[in-house]
Amino acid sequence: MTKLGAGIAITGCGSAAPKARLSNDHLSQMVETSDEWISSRTGMKNRHIASWEETLSNISAEAAEAAIAMAGISAAEIDLIILATSTPDDLFGTACQIQNAIGAYKAVAFDLTAACSGFIFALITAAQFIRTGVYQNTLIIGADVLSRWVDWSERSTCVLFGDGAGAVVCQGIQGSDRLLGFEMYSDGSQNNCLNLSYQGQSKPLIEDVTVGSGTYRPITMNGREVYRFAVAKVPEVIEKAMFRANITAEQVDWLLLHQANQRIMDTVAKRLQIPEEKVLSNLAKYGNTSAASIPLVLDEAVRQGKVKPGDIIAASGFGAGLTWGAAIFQWGK
Ligand code: UT7
Repeated sequence: MTKLGAGIAITGCGSAAPKARLSNDHLSQMVETSDEWISSRTGMKNRHIASWEETLSNISAEAAEAAIAMAGISAAEIDLIILATSTPDDLFGTACQIQNAIGAYKAVAFDLTAACSGFIFALITAAQFIRTGVYQNTLIIGADVLSRWVDWSERSTCVLFGDGAGAVVCQGIQGSDRLLGFEMYSDGSQNNCLNLSYQGQSKPLIEDVTVGSGTYRPITMNGREVYRFAVAKVPEVIEKAMFRANITAEQVDWLLLHQANQRIMDTVAKRLQIPEEKVLSNLAKYGNTSAASIPLVLDEAVRQGKVKPGDIIAASGFGAGLTWGAAIFQWGK
């Protein structure tokens, strides 16, 4: 147990993606689209797609094990696991399957759903348990297999999404706090912009008692509205988090945004006057992996040696809900 008032350090990261890749050219054989349209409108080239055997828990466990190894602890030392996902293997929750797969027997494990903001919301949630001294070692996973829920005949959405998992280990430390500031928002009045909703029909059980019978319907999105929302709200929420962190945009080493569209990332960077070489991007390889996108690109940048211990990262997630949030943190022990 840490003492009340412990600070936070993000000490390990890991990621995993399914094997199969689907390129823009592959997609143009499936729907009326082109590499030119997809690349110029989104920056995406490829995405990884999970087969039937590649479950959310499998790729999450692989990402989690890599993060735990980098942090230099064992799974048995983890106190808390939060899995941010909108595509669980089991609607009752998938975090417990991951806990069992990695042998984190001491950890309490639960799912958190906030779409593409999920990883940021989960990181901030885990941080509260550390700050209050309740837990020392936490594992935060962002993972999604949206390919299960895409209408593969609908060109306006099927070209955007890919599957993947990313994880970080967040630990309590005494004497400093590397989570410098954060901010989170929700606006349910715009919920209809982006949905993966249950749709049922009424099925009678007995007289006067009916139940809903149906399933979740494929993703629907008003792309233009979500785009407008993102370029308006993301710079604002990062500015608020930077204010709380008492830093200016010049002090930010890396802008780490949810990987939804290169044009959104470029516009946000421009508004914040952060130069493009500080923008972390891998959506050309992975597409939009929802809750996984932020830890996936972080892991890649750390392992490439781009992000170094002590670097200041401004991270922001945004998406369905609508939800959006930002966390400013320093990487490493
Ligand atoms: O992770 C959750 C957060 N999600 C986002 O942040 C997504 C935000 N939105 C976007 O990134 C963009 O709105 C999209 C990439 C989804 C779409 O780009 P856009 O520049 O807003 O295109 P649009 O929806 O305005 O469509 C322009 C045209 C339309 O044709 P008309 O009506 O101008 O004739 C579409 O039918 O492009 C057409 N279109 C396509 N054409 C070729 C839509 N999808 C495709 C496609 N290939 N895949």
